[in-house]
Amino acid sequence: MRGIIAAGGQGTRLRPALDKCQQLIYDKPLLYYLLTNVMKAGARDIFVSCNPLNISAAEALFKNADKEFGVNLTFSCEGREPGPAGVFIKPGVREFIGNEPVCITLDGIYNGGNFNQCMAEISGVSVGATVLAVQEPDPRPYGWFKMDEYQTVVDIIEKPKFTPEPNCLYLVQTGIYAYGPEVVDYAEKLELSKRGEYEVTDLHKLFLQEGKLTIQTLGHGKDGEFMWNDPGTPEKLLWLANKVQSIQKLTSCLVGSPHWQALKNCWVTADRLLEICTERQGAMYYDSLANAVSLVSEP
Ligand code: G1P
Repeated sequence: MRGIIAAGGQGTRLRPALDKCQQLIYDKPLLYYLLTNVMKAGARDIFVSCNPLNISAAEALFKNADKEFGVNLTFSCEGREPGPAGVFIKPGVREFIGNEPVCITLDGIYNGGNFNQCMAEISGVSVGATVLAVQEPDPRPYGWFKMDEYQTVVDIIEKPKFTPEPNCLYLVQTGIYAYGPEVVDYAEKLELSKRGEYEVTDLHKLFLQEGKLTIQTLGHGKDGEFMWNDPGTPEKLLWLANKVQSIQKLTSCLVGSPHWQALKNCWVTADRLLEICTERQGAMYYDSLANAVSLVSEP
């Protein structure tokens, strides 16, 4: 499984901050959470699609990714294909994917419920498209799955305009998807939308038309309460920071930590992580990580 992090957005709603990806969400930058998302799908070769403003900070942040998290990262700000589905037609992406399936993450932060279980299932995807979805009271900011009376998905509408019914939930796309290697051929057929982007919704419609779209619904489950949010505005950043703080205090586990995920995936040893934490003592992230690692590695 290959991984792609779509970190090329401009983050205009966070201005005057210039680099959305480096925003701290409680104790670690957004890019840490995104890397963790694709690592949960088992991806070790990961393409980080940046914009010219954020690429050098992203490279510096992940300078030792192979030694710290056991992953190989390729950074690129080449090409000007706007929108998340545009990533698949950027220079070098076809070669990067080759004949492997691929999992892509947009800017969302996820935790708890059945999330880990869904990501484990995504790691087994080899063809078609699998989209992680959630039930939301207001579908207007998202891609909405329109269904017929038999609850079969008949269409996907990007940012629907209707007023939602009170006490109703609507199935919408989150920002994690997995595809077979044929996704590049599908993406090449896309045209720019009215908002000037290559839309994941249009990409998923192509798979839907051929009966090759699978939807996995995220929600509360084995790991308790489920959380998903896109840190696109200052309000959401604050909400997420508080949420991550309370989850970490309650569970002593780390949300969105590639170090912690690498340990779970057996890509790095507990001893190596403790060494890293000792070198960087005094930063809250590394102190919490040391605490979490010690708890699971005690004899
Ligand atoms: C994108 C997708 C949308 C999806 C959303 C999830 O929206 O186009 O279908 O529901 O991510 O965060 P955007 O963030 O580009 O507005």
